[in-house]
Amino acid sequence: PLTRSLSMGSLSGLPLWDQEELPVEDLLLFEVAWEVTNKVGGIYTVIQTKAKVTVDEWGENFFMIGPYYEHNFKTQVEQCDPPNAAIKAALESIKNNGCQVHFGRWLIEGTPYVILFDIGAAAWNLDRWKGDLWNTCSIGLPYHDREANDSLILGSLVAWFFKELTDQLQDKPNVIAHFHEWQAGVGLVLIRSRKLPMATVFTTHATLLGRYLCAGNADFYNNLDKFDIDREAGERQIYHRYCLERAAVHCSHVFTTVSQITAVEADHMLHRQPDVVTPNGLNVKKFSAMHEFQNLHSMNKLKIQEFVRGHFYGHLDFNLEKTLFFFIAGRYEFSNKGADVFLEALSRLNYLLRVHKSDVTVVVFFIMPAKTNNFNVESLKGQAVRKQLWCVVTRENDLHSRIAPCSSARSMPRASARHTLPPVTTHNMLDDSTDPILSNVRRIGLFNSRSDRVKIVFHPEFLSSTSPLLPMDYEEFIRGCHLGVFPSYYEPWGYTPGECTVMGIPSVTTNLSGFGCFMEEHISDPSAYGIYIVDRRFRSAEDSCNQLTQFMFSFCQQSRRQRIIQRNRTERLSDLLDWRYLARVRRNHIQMLLAPPPVSTSTAPAHLTSHQGFRYPRPPSVPPSPSASLHSTPHHSDTEDEDDHEPYDEDEEAERDRLNIKAPFTLGAVPEGKKKQPSDYGN
Ligand code: UDP
Ligand code: G6P
Ligand code: GLC
Repeated sequence: PLTRSLSMGSLSGLPLWDQEELPVEDLLLFEVAWEVTNKVGGIYTVIQTKAKVTVDEWGENFFMIGPYYEHNFKTQVEQCDPPNAAIKAALESIKNNGCQVHFGRWLIEGTPYVILFDIGAAAWNLDRWKGDLWNTCSIGLPYHDREANDSLILGSLVAWFFKELTDQLQDKPNVIAHFHEWQAGVGLVLIRSRKLPMATVFTTHATLLGRYLCAGNADFYNNLDKFDIDREAGERQIYHRYCLERAAVHCSHVFTTVSQITAVEADHMLHRQPDVVTPNGLNVKKFSAMHEFQNLHSMNKLKIQEFVRGHFYGHLDFNLEKTLFFFIAGRYEFSNKGADVFLEALSRLNYLLRVHKSDVTVVVFFIMPAKTNNFNVESLKGQAVRKQLWCVVTRENDLHSRIAPCSSARSMPRASARHTLPPVTTHNMLDDSTDPILSNVRRIGLFNSRSDRVKIVFHPEFLSSTSPLLPMDYEEFIRGCHLGVFPSYYEPWGYTPGECTVMGIPSVTTNLSGFGCFMEEHISDPSAYGIYIVDRRFRSAEDSCNQLTQFMFSFCQQSRRQRIIQRNRTERLSDLLDWRYLARVRRNHIQMLLAPPPVSTSTAPAHLTSHQGFRYPRPPSVPPSPSASLHSTPHHSDTEDEDDHEPYDEDEEAERDRLNIKAPFTLGAVPEGKKKQPSDYGN
């Protein structure tokens, strides 16, 4: 048969859907985005994590298109020839006309084909293409906006490619192109204005105006219908970008976005309601042993502890066994990502821990890239001192162990001389005096002094396993932490808390993030599962900040055992965020394209995603009355038992909790290692 059904193992507890069939053999699917092989933020994560399920379904008929960067190509792509003669001919034609394009397989799971256009090598066409754009839709791009000019070059190359391709293909297979975000949208506008015989989807992951207005401290959500959007765009000097975005939205056959909250925003900022909402998923990996992710937490926590030993050398007067690691991470949008509220709440948490004479210390990491010139000397020195002392200690332990076994080989002399406080930043900041995180740290006075129970480490660069300072990749780092804190004000989806969830690490999110709203909708008691949702929509900033402080303070009061139980529950939500489940929603827009009559481009209502209606019930071990369980954190009578080695079977506890849940869903195949008897799932 010429059809291939979606190869999808159904997931424990979640509803199955009909094995609808897409006639993929008659179709070519292209996904176009600036972040293909090019990491900037969450759009890269969407594309990269979705590749596997898309390739499983579309096989050799799926291609991604993005910009060519030599470094990315060398490190992430294996060059090869296009498998399809028409694509090969289209690319040859572009090359024969003086532009560069590279083809290969992106070395991620699923190894999708990628077509990468060299923007620099085609820049000699810029003036002509600006003229074409102006003649097509009267949008002019200023010479100084490099990003907009680059997006025009990419868009012109993409439209050119599709012209060549559709000329070659004549009737079959049909071509579908899915564009992400305004930087890729120019191609879509040109394709439509040139009336190429193909179908288009445009997904926005934010609106330009929404992001700008929120960053500018507007009371955005209460005034959505009141903004004079043209004027606002003009005043922020993004009128041309906003026009490109709006043109792409209105030219697309199907318009989608990543959350209901952004669907409403798009309606106001772009004047079109999305046809489909496609929540973002992840490529979830299951371990065969349920406790494996708990072990990974332990192992990676040790690495973070090592870093902390060095960073705080001479000031290590806190017990690392009673130290919790919190973090915030992402692109550095200070107030949109909620770093402002977070800092204020940390100052309050510090106060609470001090007045309650808590023996818990919280080390908080800010992982947000800013302009720097290298690591600072004090941070490097800290790690060097740690390594030196470690050698001394190991030598001593070595000698000692010949006489008697050492109880704590990882111990280090408590303090060596240091005349400064442990640094707040790990790098030399270029804008030290005006940097918003540092300015606020100065204001609230959290300078890592001995009396502070909350310590701050600002790492103004994404993490990397090759760093001499904190040699961990981001995933390892998340696993080693206790709580991710993402109190965003502007967040169409927000991958960071979702990434914590699938690794079994609790996190804080908000009801202004797509992820937070999605979890609120599908989980009866999110905080019991380690998803703390701060209300930033209906409360004042002061109240939201207090709520966040309370979440963090309660978290600090949990025993180790309670944290372990909560991590088990958190991890259990991963199925909900798995592309293998969410990809079904994504298929909606393809089906809309295939089903006549074509979708109207104006007032089609946003289709409610078909996973609606189910909810994860509250875990049975949570007491029913809210008063009995502050924020529904795991409840135990032996609350303060910190003994790691007591006879206690984590898996057994987790399994008991899990089996008590009456899943109201149909059950299909369960990933290896999680197989159970049908009766385990109730009805
Ligand atoms: N991220 C990363 N390394 C880091 C910190 C963050 O790769 O050190 C990634 C993270 O995995 C996430 C992305 O940055 O996928 C941020 O995406 P999100 O949707 O949260 O926000 P965006 O930046 O798109 O607004
Ligand atoms: C995991 C490990 C346990 C360890 C615990 C520490 O669950 O399997 O052996 O005791 O992590 O948890 P904590 O929340 O204190 O880092
Ligand atoms: C955007 C949004 C972010 C979202 C990501 C992927 O960059 O800022 O909230 O998670 O796109 O959709």
